[in-house]
Amino acid sequence: MGKTILITGASSGIGAALARSYARAGVTLLLWGRDQARLDEIAGQCRALGATAVTQAFDLRDAAGFAAKLVAADASTPIDLAIFNAGLGGSAPGDRIAEAPERAQAVADVNFTAPVVGANVLAEAMAKRGAGHIVLVGSISESYPLPMAPTYAATKAGLRLFAEALGLRLAKHGVVVSLVSPGFVDTPMSRRVPESKPFLMTAEACAAVIVRKIAAKKRVIVVPWQFAVIRAVTGLLPRALVRWVLSRA
Ligand SMILES: NC(=O)c1ccc[n+]([C@@H]2O[C@H](COP(=O)([O-])OP(=O)(O)OC[C@H]3O[C@@H](n4cnc5c(N)ncnc54)[C@H](OP(=O)(O)O)[C@@H]3O)[C@@H](O)[C@H]2O)c1
Repeated sequence: MGKTILITGASSGIGAALARSYARAGVTLLLWGRDQARLDEIAGQCRALGATAVTQAFDLRDAAGFAAKLVAADASTPIDLAIFNAGLGGSAPGDRIAEAPERAQAVADVNFTAPVVGANVLAEAMAKRGAGHIVLVGSISESYPLPMAPTYAATKAGLRLFAEALGLRLAKHGVVVSLVSPGFVDTPMSRRVPESKPFLMTAEACAAVIVRKIAAKKRVIVVPWQFAVIRAVTGLLPRALVRWVLSRA
C-alpha cells in the first residue's frame, strides 16, 4: 500500500527538502504552501523521483479554510504522515521597540494557530483509523526568551508543550506525535537573520536527519544534535544567567 504524506510550507527551505527526501514511487505527497510557482517546481522535482505530487496554494492564516482543506484531503486520500512545517520568521525590526502588532499576529497565526488546528483535525481522523504520525516543526528557540523575537520564540514554546500533551493524549490510539526543533538551517528564513548562526546546516542535511528520526518514531528531534547538548547544558544554568546573557545579545 502507498503512503500519503502532507507537508505544509513545502514551497521553500526545509519543507521543500523534506518533499524531495520522501519522493519515490508509491508515495503521494500533498505539498501545501502559498507560492504556486515554487510549489509547482518542487512538485516537478518530486514527480521526477517517482512520487505522485499534488499541490495547494493558500494562506494558512485562514485557519477555518485550512481545517476544511485538511478534512477534504484526508477524506479523499487518508494521510499517514502530516508534517506541519510552515513557519514565519519573527525577528523584531531594530527601528522599533516592540514588534509590529500585525506581524506578531501573523507569526502567531502561522506558527501556532495553524499547526494546532491542523494537528487536531488529523488527530481525530488518525485516532479513528488507529494509526498515523503528526510532526510539528518548532525551533530550538522554544527553550529561550529571545528578546529579538519574543512572539516567534513564544509560538515555538507553545508548540513544544502542545506536541508533548497531544502525544500523551493520542498514544493509546496508535498515533505518534513528534516535535522537530531545528537550530540554524540555511533557508530563505534564516538568511534574513543577521546574527551569527553556529552549526548552520543545509536544508537537505536537516531533512535527511528528520526523515530518519521520523521513521524511528522519535518524539523529540533536535537537529543538528549539537543543539540538544547546548539545550541540556543551558537548562542546568540558573535562568537569571540565561536571561542576563540574552539581554545583551
Ligand atoms: N531555517 C532555520 O534556521 C529554522 C530554524 C528553526 C526552526 N525553523 C522552522 O522550520 C520551518 C521551515 O522554515 P524554513 O527555514 O524552511 O523557512 P522558509 O524557507 O521561509 O519556508 C517557510 C515556508 O512556510 C510557508 N508559509 C509561511 N507563511 C505562510 C502562510 N501564511 N501560509 C502558507 N504558508 C506559509 C512558506 O510558503 P511560501 O514561501 O509559499 O510563502 C514556505 O513554504 C518553520 O516552521 C521555521 O520556524 C527554521
